[in-house]
Amino acid sequence: MWCNRSTALGFVLMTGLAAVTETGSAMSMLGSKHDLTSLDNRAGTGVMVGVAFENYQSTCVYCHTPHRPVSESSEGKAPLWNREYPVTEYKLYQSPTLDATISQPAGITLACLSCHDGSLAVDRVMKRPPISDTQALPKKHMHIARGGGDTQCSQCHRKGNENIKGIHDLGIAAFGNDLSDDHPVSITYPALLQDKQFNPRPGSDEFANGVKLFNGRVECASCHDVHNAKTKPFLRVGLQGSALCVTCHIK
Ligand code: HEC
Ligand code: HEC
Ligand code: HEC
Ligand code: HEC
Ligand code: HEC
Repeated sequence: MWCNRSTALGFVLMTGLAAVTETGSAMSMLGSKHDLTSLDNRAGTGVMVGVAFENYQSTCVYCHTPHRPVSESSEGKAPLWNREYPVTEYKLYQSPTLDATISQPAGITLACLSCHDGSLAVDRVMKRPPISDTQALPKKHMHIARGGGDTQCSQCHRKGNENIKGIHDLGIAAFGNDLSDDHPVSITYPALLQDKQFNPRPGSDEFANGVKLFNGRVECASCHDVHNAKTKPFLRVGLQGSALCVTCHIK
């Protein structure tokens, strides 16, 4: 069954960019680090071309598919999702002053971790588009991980790589299974009056400045918008004056 929401997204995906700009949020995803079709251009040198991952020639397809996604309409999951969810067991944030109960991450956060924990290759999609460069060089289907192994982006992207001068270290994007030193995620936002240190939860789950909750919870995508590279790094709201943090916290 198609719910209205996924039909609307299917429409967006099929009609492409005109519709995307209409939502306003995906406007500046193209050409960003989340546009895998453009990474070779960003790299400039051509060194990644055709080797690290498959270029499906379509930005959205690494994450969404317009028809019959695996996880269709599952509550708390990313819409029209075209990737597997990782089955990694994560080390969670711990703190004596935390009120929220923390458990293994929910779908919206797992969607991010399907690339960022390094367990699944960035080009590992459930449904491939009809266009891809399968005929070109054999692909390594690389992972965002730190080890420097043959199927890891860090084979090139690591600190002190003598072979490629000036290459950036992608270690910071590689979470592995350790979320213990990151802002807690998949936690329920405190209800009104439950915690005086927090602004009231917005009725629509979206704060006026665009910061979002998902089913009342804080997820990676509360602070980040994968589709918008305007405020680095893919933030919904900038850090100037702690704007992002004081959306939720009263400090
Ligand atoms: C790197 C992964 C990734 C790529 C690439 C991506 N998305 Fe998304 N998208 C997500 C995730 C995760 C969510 C759920 C979290 C959220 O709503 O921000 C989402 C949510 C959405 C939504 C619903 C929420 C909203 O912001 O309106 C729409 C519509 C959408 N994506 C459209 C697109 C389109 C169109 C493209 C291609 C131009 C695209 N996405 C590319 C990961 C991605
Ligand atoms: C299809 C794979 C994929 C998915 C899914 C994905 N990312 Fe990424 N992300 C990447 C890649 C590739 C990079 C670039 C890493 C690098 O080279 O530094 C990146 C980089 C980032 C960066 C750093 C940007 C910068 O300017 O340095 C942030 C922040 C980020 N991702 C957040 C997210 C969040 C939050 C989600 C889920 C809502 C998500 N990503 C889902 C592939 C993905
Ligand atoms: C054969 C070596 C090599 C491999 C493997 C490789 N890259 Fe690259 N990549 C480069 C070089 C060289 C550049 C250009 C220098 C730079 O930006 O670090 C680059 C640039 C990039 C950029 C653009 C950086 C920017 O800010 O413009 C991103 C993002 C990126 N690579 C992500 C990845 C991801 C994700 C993988 C694994 C799926 C990967 N790379 C695998 C060599 C490689
Ligand atoms: C409470 C808000 C918040 C949440 C939740 C959050 N982030 Fe971030 N993230 C930030 C901010 C702010 C930065 C930039 C400052 C920094 O690097 O410390 C950042 C930085 C990053 C970077 C590094 C970008 C770079 O190159 O410096 C990545 C990758 C990233 N986040 C991914 C994620 C993922 C994946 C999740 C979920 C597991 C997540 N974030 C949850 C606020 C958040
Ligand atoms: C979308 C809402 C939201 C945003 C934005 C947000 N936080 Fe949080 N933060 C929370 C919630 C909810 C908790 C869990 C509080 C609890 O249960 O005690 C939390 C927990 C924390 C904790 C841990 C408190 C403890 O007792 O261990 C710190 C520190 C923190 N946030 C800092 C920040 C900073 C810094 C920023 C900006 C980069 C930020 N937060 C942005 C909602 C948010």
